[in-house]
Amino acid sequence: MIKKFLNLGYQPLANSYLREKQINKKEKKFKLEIVFNDKNFLVSINKKIPTKEMFNSDYPYRSSLSKTMVKSFKNISSTIKKKFNPKFIIEIGSNDGAFLFNFNKKNIIGIEPCKNVATITKQKKYKTIDKYWTKNLARSLTKNNNCDLIYSANTLSHIENLKETFGAINLALSKNGVLILEGPALLPCIKNNIYDQFYCEHIYVFSTIALNEILKNFNLEIFDLNILNTHGGSTRYFIKKKYNKKYKIKKKVQKEISKEKKFGLHKFETYLSFSKRVNKSKEELINILKKLRKDNKKIIGYGATAKSCTVLNYCKINDKYIRYFLDTTPDKINKYLPGSKIKIKKYRKLSKKDADVVFLGAWNFKKEILKKEKKFKKAGGKFLIHVPKVKLI
Ligand code: TMP
Repeated sequence: MIKKFLNLGYQPLANSYLREKQINKKEKKFKLEIVFNDKNFLVSINKKIPTKEMFNSDYPYRSSLSKTMVKSFKNISSTIKKKFNPKFIIEIGSNDGAFLFNFNKKNIIGIEPCKNVATITKQKKYKTIDKYWTKNLARSLTKNNNCDLIYSANTLSHIENLKETFGAINLALSKNGVLILEGPALLPCIKNNIYDQFYCEHIYVFSTIALNEILKNFNLEIFDLNILNTHGGSTRYFIKKKYNKKYKIKKKVQKEISKEKKFGLHKFETYLSFSKRVNKSKEELINILKKLRKDNKKIIGYGATAKSCTVLNYCKINDKYIRYFLDTTPDKINKYLPGSKIKIKKYRKLSKKDADVVFLGAWNFKKEILKKEKKFKKAGGKFLIHVPKVKLI
């Protein structure tokens, strides 16, 4: 049975940044509700937006703009070379090449349906297919299961049709091939009140127990995993075909499943108490912003993330509170955040003249950003963060 546990209100499409001429036009909005499936433990958003409305030639996201992500992709690439030595790799959701570029052009193909982004890796002569990952595509790219490694980071949670996705993976992957999936993990999300992990593109936030159940339908199984700090807490899963005996299932996998069950990720009540904490977090964020405004503090935002779209619209925060956002992404600059309509300006190093308080939309890069903005903090500037608790740092 599918059970609702959180209502994040009416939300626009999180990555649909508005141009100046669009800000007075009515935006398309949908009700963002989060649900739990008590059969396979899968947590997902209730209303799915048609893929083509989200992943098209206007897609602004670029993986390479974060040092943290570039480093993470470099590390996993060298592990892949050492451990698996693959001759033919497919990356599903290759974005601007942060993973792809760690490999020899001859050995890897990127799949990236957003044509504007795919152009970036094509220009560097990396074979990139600007289509969605489907069984037909898998058939056309691989000769009877000859791909020995499939990698996909922060993409699976964006694809609604898991049957098509895993069906295509099964068609492409060789007998002893390895599938590596990584993305935001449900346990830190629920534990740390990270409600902004949910937005139109994040259809699913996976737990190990849910992925484990889903993989059973495709004769696939997890044999190893890594817990990562990226994106507020992610998990990287190493997956094989069931009859592949080359890799033994590590004890870590069962340990993680036990940890998730101990926390209660298989029980609906866990999600109901998360929902209560989220409501409280909203109140606290609004109260602190109201107080700062009353005290005449100048507040700006840092990192106009898709996640901050959820927070701003759920808490009904607009430019009366946050004057503008700074961001490094070229396609976001001089546009406006959807729904809240707060302007995004080109990133420049923070100075105390800019603001007294900076709302950290890109809180998932806190370490990287705080290191970069030491001067601002030294001059008495504060960062406002809402996870795991609303506080000024
Ligand atoms: P993400 O949380 O969806 O990965 O998006 C991160 C956003 O934050 C992206 O728009 C780039 C922006 N950003 C900055 O503006 N400055 C930074 O130092 C970092 C790490 C990210």
